[in-house]
Amino acid sequence: MQIGIDKIGLFTPNTYLDLVMLANARGVDPDKYTIGIGQDQMAIAPLSQDSVTMAANAAREVLDDDNRDSIGLLILGTESGIDQSKAGALYVQRLLGLKNARAFEIKEACYGATAGLMTAYDFVTAHPNQKALVIGSDIARYGLDTPGEVTQGAGAVAMIVSAAPHLLALEPATAIHSDDIQDFWRPNYSKEAFARGKYSTEQYIEFFQATWADYRAQTGRTISDFKALTFHLPYTKMGLKALRTILPEATEAEQAQLLDRYQESTLYSRQIGNIYTGALYLGFLSLLEHSTQLVAGDRIGLFSYGSGAISEFFTGILQPSFEKQLAGADHKAMLAARRQLTMPEYENQFQAELPEDGSEYEIDLAMDNAPVILKGVKEHERNYQVRI
Ligand code: CAA
Repeated sequence: MQIGIDKIGLFTPNTYLDLVMLANARGVDPDKYTIGIGQDQMAIAPLSQDSVTMAANAAREVLDDDNRDSIGLLILGTESGIDQSKAGALYVQRLLGLKNARAFEIKEACYGATAGLMTAYDFVTAHPNQKALVIGSDIARYGLDTPGEVTQGAGAVAMIVSAAPHLLALEPATAIHSDDIQDFWRPNYSKEAFARGKYSTEQYIEFFQATWADYRAQTGRTISDFKALTFHLPYTKMGLKALRTILPEATEAEQAQLLDRYQESTLYSRQIGNIYTGALYLGFLSLLEHSTQLVAGDRIGLFSYGSGAISEFFTGILQPSFEKQLAGADHKAMLAARRQLTMPEYENQFQAELPEDGSEYEIDLAMDNAPVILKGVKEHERNYQVRI
């Protein structure tokens, strides 16, 4: 029995910052951001979008009358959760009109959605008549005028995992590498992440090399068995640095193809930025929605990295008519319809906060056209609404 990704959906807020504008404001050469880091724009979430609303907005794209009643597992991977106790997945379940799913939230930095996907794989193996909804949803925040500022972003990717999937059948072999390291973390009292920037990039590459070597040893496969390799993308140069370390294993023609596929996998991230848990799946989706070179039967590699840290390299086979599961035109239209923020608007939006003293606050919704929104807070409770 094959198990894998049947459908995949994307949501990102409708405002963004141009990173040449950010570079000019910070007195940095714009080429550092667009070439050195590899980012052009980053999505900025308004107060009315959080990890719950973005998750629900992304999931609406993949739910339909055929799969709604068979969702037995709902996992929200996030590192920007809104509650220390209650799982964001339960708000998402209600906002989507789902019932009685095993609904919970998973945290392990940017690995959360992959932990969800692997759990979903096991769940569907045990319950082939049921499906799982796995969502990665995050707002990446490092702070104004910090080295990490250019690698922020916001968005969510939602996936239906099922037996006989129509998009990507996951293969059983995976390689995992985990260790207790301090490359990136966010204590409970902080709204912004702390990162040892250079160290985190070195660890990412080392973890990639460890899982790649383990995968090769386990399976006997080589780089020639892959039509594309996709990566967790905190920024688009990061995956490229990792890919380059193994490219010498490929022929010249294969290297050119893998680099072309890699560029296709970065196009959404270049415009959205880091979405933490969803970032690998954003890259995977970008590849499928921009490449004209992939066909059913092709093997795709996926490298997941969550700081702290754990990495997993796993693979899947594109299924017949996988193109029918994609909505590239809609996603490109969503990005094209976003409004560019000015620097003062960005800084105001970044600094805007909900009250933490229990007082009532209604969010100005004028700028947000998403179907699922956070309307406000009252007595420490968030008031979510489905508008459409
Ligand atoms: N033109 C072209 N390129 C330029 C340039 C110019 N004028 N000026 C600098 N560059 C290049 C540099 O040469 C460098 O390239 P290489 O990495 O290929 O050497 C690149 O731009 C970045 O320059 P710096 O290393 O000087 O940048 P920085 O010190 O400002 O920090 C960063 C970069 C470490 C990524 C920082 O943005 C950061 O801390 N980000 C957050 C942490 C992060 O994303 N880590 C990634 C691994 S951890 C992970 O993956 C989990 C996660 O999601 C967070």
